[in-house]
Amino acid sequence: MVQSAYAEGDREYGEYLSSECVTCHQSKDVDAQIPVINGMHGEGFIALMKAYRAEELDNPTMRTIAKRLTDEDIEALAAYFSALPVPK
Ligand code: HEC
Repeated sequence: MVQSAYAEGDREYGEYLSSECVTCHQSKDVDAQIPVINGMHGEGFIALMKAYRAEELDNPTMRTIAKRLTDEDIEALAAYFSALPVPK
């Protein structure tokens, strides 16, 4: 079976890293300013995180957070969040 990069990310490590994220990114859309990222497609997630890290996207909070993450961290987070159910 061919697996894409995010499927190879370590989901447990991703869960560990996600504790910081979920203080803002809730599983339900309670704050319209903060998008829900649960169930987000892994490749899209990785592209967004790398774009924040490269300062191609504007949000200063996400830039700061993304800059502390390695490619491996981002892949683990993608594996974790993409496996979560999309909230209704
Ligand atoms: C302090 C609050 C906060 C924390 C902590 C935080 N984020 Fe965010 N994040 C935001 C906000 C606000 C946005 C929306 C930015 C925008 O509109 O440009 C965002 C946007 C995103 C997006 C883009 C979503 C989309 O649909 O465009 C992703 C992916 C993301 N964050 C992932 C993460 C991950 C992974 C972590 C943990 C490593 C994290 N965030 C931690 C506040 C936060």
